[in-house]
Amino acid sequence: MPKMQTETLRQTARDMVAPGRGILAMDESRPTCAARFKKLGIADSEEKRREYRDLLVTAPGLGEFVSGAILFDETIRQQTLAGDSFPAHLAKAGIVPGIKVDTGAKPLAGFDGEKVTEGLDGLRERLAEYRELGARFAKWRAVIAIAGADKPSRACLMANAHALARYAALCQEAALVPIVEPEVLMDGGHDIARCFEVTRAAQQMVFEQLREQNVLLEGIVLKPSMVVSGADCATRAPLAEVAEQTVRCLKMTVPHEVPGIAFLSGGQSDEEATAHLNAMNARGRNLPWALTFSYGRALQQAAMATWGGDAANREAAQKIAAHRARMNGLAASGAWSADMEKLAA
Ligand code: 13P
Repeated sequence: MPKMQTETLRQTARDMVAPGRGILAMDESRPTCAARFKKLGIADSEEKRREYRDLLVTAPGLGEFVSGAILFDETIRQQTLAGDSFPAHLAKAGIVPGIKVDTGAKPLAGFDGEKVTEGLDGLRERLAEYRELGARFAKWRAVIAIAGADKPSRACLMANAHALARYAALCQEAALVPIVEPEVLMDGGHDIARCFEVTRAAQQMVFEQLREQNVLLEGIVLKPSMVVSGADCATRAPLAEVAEQTVRCLKMTVPHEVPGIAFLSGGQSDEEATAHLNAMNARGRNLPWALTFSYGRALQQAAMATWGGDAANREAAQKIAAHRARMNGLAASGAWSADMEKLAA
């Protein structure tokens, strides 16, 4: 890789995990966005999606705590209400524009109930176009489900790790920083120890494959799930244990060259996602990488509900989005506390 390209990747990755800032995941696919709108009685149309996403990216003060935003294919081609392209608006606001490039998790042949993420065919050409449209990083999400003692299978972990590494190599070739996202789902009755075991295996395999495919580790951002109890587990591990186990797992699997780790929220409540991130950063641990957020639901759900599809609620929704960004920005520095939530409410 040319030296200049290596430097571009390193710099972009560092910008994405700059101190006290994190990533806004607003790359919901059409069906996911439709489902979230439907729950709130919002019409599912291209124009409504544009209005909503415009509201998010133009929220006053957002750029102070948001370093990057992940867009969906439709959005990167749309204009904000003020007439800028979304990537151009983000760049002006000091937010690095990114793009979701996988085409979704599909059933893994031969492994009932397991999935592999697709989207490698034609990816080189799509990445070149996205860069042209203003993207500076990309995202690919692998989905790993825990069920009983035999799921995930080794085959599922390997197929997903291999796809993530092929994707990451193609991104770097196109001078885009890959967000590498192996999500271990919260669904199920498993305990935190089982989540730890699966997360560790998944992350270990991802880094083996990234090395195998010659991916520059200084030019990626890892987007993992936290190590938590399954959503239906009878005894849920407390906050301090989630922080402890998540950091322990990362220390065992993530090389020091990786500049930053930006967690997904994965169905945690807004405040839980903030509190967990804060707990990891609050202990003054000397960690080799930045720990921040790349939240979708935990940054957006309250704002989306307040908006409800009505332009009259736009400002109120923006205030809520900016507030969640601020809370998580503080958590990324370990400077958040629950009182701050109350004060600003
Ligand atoms: P959540 O934070 O809602 O899990 O979404 C993050 C994301 O980008 C999933 O791919």
